[in-house]
Amino acid sequence: MEALKPEEFLQQLIATREAFWEKMNAERKSYGAEKPLTPAVVLRRLQFGVVMERKAAEVTAPWVSKIPDLDLQQPMSEYVVNELKHTSILCQRIRDLNGDPDGLWNSPLAELKELWDFHAGLGSLCELIASVQFGHEEFFPRTSKSFIERVTPLDPTTAAIYRDVLLAEEEGHEWIAPEILKRYATDAESQRKCLAALKTGCELFGRAIQSFNRSMPA
Ligand SMILES: [Fe+2]
Ligand SMILES: [Fe+2]
Repeated sequence: MEALKPEEFLQQLIATREAFWEKMNAERKSYGAEKPLTPAVVLRRLQFGVVMERKAAEVTAPWVSKIPDLDLQQPMSEYVVNELKHTSILCQRIRDLNGDPDGLWNSPLAELKELWDFHAGLGSLCELIASVQFGHEEFFPRTSKSFIERVTPLDPTTAAIYRDVLLAEEEGHEWIAPEILKRYATDAESQRKCLAALKTGCELFGRAIQSFNRSMPA
């Protein structure tokens, strides 16, 4: 099989990701992802954020030293710093609400652990980027939009953290993943592996989200 041109390759990844989003979004209501919030649910959601932000940083950090070009290596190192900063902000918010920041970190749901174990085991920078940053991290602003709307009347401080810090900074690093994929995933075999990683990552993410929502306090 011949390699796709960089733009065609990205389009293929986007089409795959968006097809998955359509499916997941259609199912979200069925497992309660849009349920009205309570303080206990908000706390749990913040704990989920701690796992997602910290794990994104942890699985990415080992690959930063493998990025050949400085113009991508430097922003990717800032990405790691940023995700850890978001983790700290979420932990502080949980403490302010008298919760345990490590509640979900210390006893992760099986599906959540499976998701991050998969990412940690990927064999190349491009597969990781396809699966995490180009994959389900792209869903974060979309799911957060609904969370922000619902949490605003109940807890405007948490809403502001999501809107003004987490999401605002998310936009700042969205350009990096497509650039890495275009520049480095140029042969047919690495493109095939990236597509496979994206598909599995999305599947596992969907399962983790579902399991998380089903585990929510009533
Ligand atoms: Fe983040
Ligand atoms: Fe992010």
